[in-house]
Amino acid sequence: MIQSNPDKRLYTPEIATITGIKPLGEKEKVFDIRLDSGESIGHQAGQFVEITVLGMGEAPISISSSPSRSNGSFELAIRDVGNVTTALHRLEPGAKVGIRGPFGSIFPTDDVKGQDLLFVAGGIGIFPLRSFINQVLDNRSDYGRVIILSGAKSPTERMFASELDAWAARDDVELLETVDHADDSWTGSEGVVTTLFAKISIDPTRTHCVIVGPPVMYRFVILEAQKKGLDDDHIILSLERRMKCGVGKCGHCQINGMYVCQEGPVFQYSQLLNAQEAL
Ligand SMILES: Cc1cc2nc3c(=O)[nH]c(=O)nc-3n(C[C@H](O)[C@H](O)[C@H](O)COP(=O)(O)OP(=O)(O)OC[C@H]3O[C@@H](n4cnc5c(N)ncnc54)[C@H](O)[C@@H]3O)c2cc1C
Ligand code: FES
Repeated sequence: MIQSNPDKRLYTPEIATITGIKPLGEKEKVFDIRLDSGESIGHQAGQFVEITVLGMGEAPISISSSPSRSNGSFELAIRDVGNVTTALHRLEPGAKVGIRGPFGSIFPTDDVKGQDLLFVAGGIGIFPLRSFINQVLDNRSDYGRVIILSGAKSPTERMFASELDAWAARDDVELLETVDHADDSWTGSEGVVTTLFAKISIDPTRTHCVIVGPPVMYRFVILEAQKKGLDDDHIILSLERRMKCGVGKCGHCQINGMYVCQEGPVFQYSQLLNAQEAL
């Protein structure tokens, strides 16, 4: 397969076609997208693209599909929250969009080979994490334990619910789920995602904790990870910041002189010790 040259798409969006759309939740859909050039997007887990709705504008969105499953197209899971995402949700398969990227730092899929992985997903944090998780599962023997802690506000807000169920059914994945507010259909745990830490034991010397979720979650999950004995460089997070250009030019994503679009969105917690306002 032809690999892409992202430099080509640094400033000028490349035209792409939405080849499929599936509903995920009340306000979330997953879009299957193919570049019209026929090139592969050539991403790594953790990266994002800037997607343009023609005549409307751009938004940064993480690539949710795994590089290990690229068949020429890639998936963006998108919550309808504002101008661009609402316009995207109105599109039908066959519609044209613009794509710049992929941009940003990557999850350390190679560096953590042979190690145990503790994924912590809150809400739509599963969108970028899914790329990393599926890459690990497609190369399962390269990694140690795979533990996934997943939290949603309610049972109906479990994103990629059938994939969560499939991961839970595997005997080489330890998946614990919770919802903030249960309903009659829910027989599992109730409470915020940090409550799941009490139910696991890990070897901190060989475990890397990868956290993605809403801003409010990070401080509390980092504290739990530290209580389990994890060093700051064994804690990995992906941050969402208001972005415009995505390529270090506009300054919108800046925290303390650090450009999240360039140095992030994936960071080791040890890189953020001087930028606590990032969390
Ligand atoms: C690296 C990265 C990856 C991302 N990945 C995903 C993903 O995988 N899926 C996903 O659904 N989202 C993702 N996002 C979030 C997404 O980019 C934002 O929600 C984006 O703002 C949506 O664009 P929009 O035009 O639809 O919304 P906007 O019109 O920008 O509105 C978004 C929200 O921000 C509020 N808002 C708008 N302007 C301002 C302002 N000036 N000040 C304060 N609040 C304002 C709006 O009221 C609304 O609640 C990601 C963001 C980043 C940075
Ligand atoms: S989004 Fe423009 S500098 Fe980061």
